[in-house]
Amino acid sequence: MAILVTGGAGYIGSHTCVELLNAGYEVIVVDNLINSSQKALERVQEITEKKLTFYKVDLLDKAALDNIFQKENIESVIHFAGLKAVGESVSMPLEYYHNNITGTIMLCQVMQKYGVKDIVFSSSATVYGNPETVPIKEDFPLSATNPYGRTKLIIENLLKDLYVSDNSWNIIMLRYFNPIGADKSGRIGEDPKNIPNNLMPYITQVAVGKLEYLGVFGNDYDTHDGTGVRDYIHVTDLATGHLKALEKLNEKPGVLVYNLGTGKGYSVLDMVKNFEKVSGRTIKYKILPRRPGDIAICYADPSKAKLELGWETIRDIDEMCEDSWRWQKNNPNGYND
Ligand code: NAD
Ligand code: UD1
Repeated sequence: MAILVTGGAGYIGSHTCVELLNAGYEVIVVDNLINSSQKALERVQEITEKKLTFYKVDLLDKAALDNIFQKENIESVIHFAGLKAVGESVSMPLEYYHNNITGTIMLCQVMQKYGVKDIVFSSSATVYGNPETVPIKEDFPLSATNPYGRTKLIIENLLKDLYVSDNSWNIIMLRYFNPIGADKSGRIGEDPKNIPNNLMPYITQVAVGKLEYLGVFGNDYDTHDGTGVRDYIHVTDLATGHLKALEKLNEKPGVLVYNLGTGKGYSVLDMVKNFEKVSGRTIKYKILPRRPGDIAICYADPSKAKLELGWETIRDIDEMCEDSWRWQKNNPNGYND
């Protein structure tokens, strides 16, 4: 029996494939490579010295998806595939709604047809909108401020409705905080196609000389140094959360939702300092105006995942910065090197 990983060539997906293979799972990846490289999967196999099966298929191609389910013996699905750039989602809402929502609907229709009803879904802390307090618990009010976030909220609701219609589904929705870091090998990591939107890849590209300076989006927030505070989580810790979720699915639990974060918040300038310390590089930065839509502080209460999944993070901020740096230093042009 195999685990189908949609979006398995992507940043979080490739790291999860490493952990799955290392734990002895059979892995089948479906990815259209719209935001990733097949090299990531070659390196996953190199790191683990294990084989996986790859289908270059778009989730919107239902017939191709159906063929995979017909051919393979799939037990559960981890569903990463989706478009994720907030700014792009504002300018291309139709593409985002179609890809993320229709893609999920087609996946679930094919799963239903083949009686595969166990799924782990990649949600995001973005579904908490602008939280009134921190740390954020799973039962906080949900809202979204952009099309990307709305696709996550719609899919969460869609999956809950699916369960109501048919209690034989088992669905775990994982709300990720801010994944950074890379596999210890330095062979796989985050490889943004254009100028990075997110903080850590921006910092590492400044460190490697591809970008001149980091723009710090606002230093007038109500935080310890005025810059935005986030809950950065090592991507390998995040990946192991998916293995715990798969184990939980074996208990046939119905619908569950968990925060995957560390419970600690670091500011933009904390991240710059930590990165400089572990890399020995100076990160030039300039204070810029706030980025529209940003919030001041966001960090998780991860205690539900600890209690119910037996999962917690073990990698600290230095390790996250070190591993991000090793990946970028060894692969200045990502998978194009
Ligand atoms: P990623 O872009 O690296 O990976 C997503 C993968 O999905 C890519 O390989 C892409 O090619 C593939 N894909 C997209 N649409 C597809 C389709 N229609 N058919 C087949 N493959 C398709 O992103 P990631 O950072 O690894 O994120 C994985 C998931 O986690 C996404 O759903 C994302 O929204 C969610 N998430 C990410 C973050 C983050 O900060 N990285 C935070 C919260 C949630
Ligand atoms: C972003 C997404 C969010 C997604 C999350 C995790 C936006 C608006 N939001 O959130 O939907 O769930 O990633 O993937 O893109 N920063 C800088 N300079 C930069 C980049 C970032 O100062 O060049 C700051 C930001 O203002 C923020 C922090 O760094 O305070 C982290 O930013 P980022 O990595 O983009 O993550 P989020 O804003 O948390």
